[in-house]
Amino acid sequence: MKILVINGPNLNFLGIREKNIYGSRDYAALVEMIEQKAKEMGIEAETFQSNSEGAIIDRIQRAYFEDIDGIIINPAAYTHYSYAIRDALAIHSIPKIEVHISNIHEREEFRRISVTAPVCNKQIMGHGLEGYLMAMEEMVKLCTGK
Ligand code: DQA
Repeated sequence: MKILVINGPNLNFLGIREKNIYGSRDYAALVEMIEQKAKEMGIEAETFQSNSEGAIIDRIQRAYFEDIDGIIINPAAYTHYSYAIRDALAIHSIPKIEVHISNIHEREEFRRISVTAPVCNKQIMGHGLEGYLMAMEEMVKLCTGK
């Protein structure tokens, strides 16, 4: 089983940006956590991060032609307004899970809306970086039907 974990803009600045919200662990630590979890679960996980909407859409589209079983995505600020990323996700019939490090419902009004969540099977938020690991467990359940 292979899953693709996509992170959107500014998540490469984890550990530097708004530590009170996103914590002090950096993006490299997140990648390490995901790789370690994948090893434990006996699955393959590829990570991808971009600050550019087009590059994220290109990666989602490319996954259509690859042997990818599920997509985990934190679209970051694009969550709240990128109909283009939403449309790219809608191309896929494989399971998709949206992750947010913070609880977007307890923050500014503009963060409460996710335009991408309706095309995902699940949304996990407010569990810090551990939310990605929870999403990986949920993804295996969705893929195996257990
Ligand atoms: C975020 C929440 C978004 O509102 C914000 O723009 C981010 C990160 C999160 O993981 O909590 O960049 O997606």
